[in-house]
Amino acid sequence: MINLGILISGRGSNMESILNFLKEGEVTDVCPKIVISSKPEAEGLKKASKFGIPTSIVSNNLKGWDYDEEIVNTLQKYNVNPDNGLVCLAGYMRLLSREFVRKYKMRIMNIHPSLLPSFPGLNSQKKALDYGVKVTGCTVHFVDEGLDSGPIIAQRQVAVLENDTYETLSDRILEQEHILYPSCVKLFSEKRLLVEGRKVIVT
Ligand code: GAR
Repeated sequence: MINLGILISGRGSNMESILNFLKEGEVTDVCPKIVISSKPEAEGLKKASKFGIPTSIVSNNLKGWDYDEEIVNTLQKYNVNPDNGLVCLAGYMRLLSREFVRKYKMRIMNIHPSLLPSFPGLNSQKKALDYGVKVTGCTVHFVDEGLDSGPIIAQRQVAVLENDTYETLSDRILEQEHILYPSCVKLFSEKRLLVEGRKVIVT
């Protein structure tokens, strides 16, 4: 059994897509244990409670490991540990400390609204529009010590239309995110993700 912790900062629609997927029984060996938010006002907290998942807020003013230590303590309180856990970042708007990443090596996933390595960081959909790319999309990757730079698990592409705005493009990418993220959780639970250097091989 994989114990799942989800970290959010806002709306929590990706979290919801994962929780719905698990509820539908597509995957039976992943148990959602805790949703942690970096923001007390995050909409996702209410959504998590509707699923009956415990929630916690870590919103102190600390930085780096001083902050992350509280996250790790909370994860471990709910039995999401480096040997049995998976941590999904779902719109979690903080950089993780080296200590956290090393502790949960290749057990932390993130979803990002671009085809990495293009447009890492914030406002990726706007960066894609401004750059004039014809295709963008979303990426799920393991988290390493860099910014959106860890080994890529899977990606889905989205065409950029001539009349796209930030909102219309973001909406179409989000639809794909909601398909992609649960599928990666499933692959992880089936132990089908083999990481060799930068490459993730799906077995
Ligand atoms: C999603 O588009 C996600 O890819 C993005 O924030 C949004 C969160 O939405 N994440 C990042 O930009 C991380 N760098 P959600 O809270 O509804 O899942």
